[in-house]
Amino acid sequence: MAWQVIAALSYPHRLIGYKGRLPWHLPLELQLFRHRTWGGILVIGRRTWESLQRSLPGRELWILSRTLTLELPMVRVFSTPEALLAALAEVRKPVFFAGGAEIYRWALCLPQVDTLWLTWVYAPDLTQGDTFFPPFEDQWQAVAWEFFEDRCVPFLQVLYRRREASTNE
Ligand SMILES: NC(=O)c1ccc[n+]([C@@H]2O[C@H](COP(=O)([O-])OP(=O)(O)OC[C@H]3O[C@@H](n4cnc5c(N)ncnc54)[C@H](OP(=O)(O)O)[C@@H]3O)[C@@H](O)[C@H]2O)c1
Repeated sequence: MAWQVIAALSYPHRLIGYKGRLPWHLPLELQLFRHRTWGGILVIGRRTWESLQRSLPGRELWILSRTLTLELPMVRVFSTPEALLAALAEVRKPVFFAGGAEIYRWALCLPQVDTLWLTWVYAPDLTQGDTFFPPFEDQWQAVAWEFFEDRCVPFLQVLYRRREASTNE
């Protein structure tokens, strides 16, 4: 089953977080995230878990962390990327790498990840932040997009696929 990366980032600054939280409150965007990821596994880093502090309905949370110990239904903790990838290889559910920046940097390099869902939040004045989505444009190309607006904030959901390797030999 295909593995996917899913993120919301500001346009044009590519911000994804500030002080451990999302830099905006867009209920419609959260609703779309919930709908898209329903029934799947969300892979997240420990800091993103700290910002949630709870399981999410309809989805499993798999957390990467060297420090965390937790026992909660629908939540698993893995201390190495290798252990997490081995467990993912055994499942038949949709897999979403859902942040934060450390997880995105790792996941974008995984060959099993073939789909990238980005929500570009139009926020030219939003400059305060401490976590950014990594560069990705040279490896991915936009293939479909849809426009939304919530509380006068426009945002664009874009589906990207990996670019074909160049065959100019
Ligand atoms: N806009 C969005 O779509 C979106 C989505 C998700 C999160 N966010 C935001 O992103 C920010 C958090 O991102 P972040 O980059 O600071 O942190 P993060 O990626 O959520 O978590 C980083 C942590 O993951 C663990 N980890 C990473 N690589 C590991 C490895 N190779 N082996 C074992 N554990 C590993 C470590 O936990 P330990 O220190 O416990 O070892 C590390 O400190 C927050 O502001 C959050 O709100 C935004």
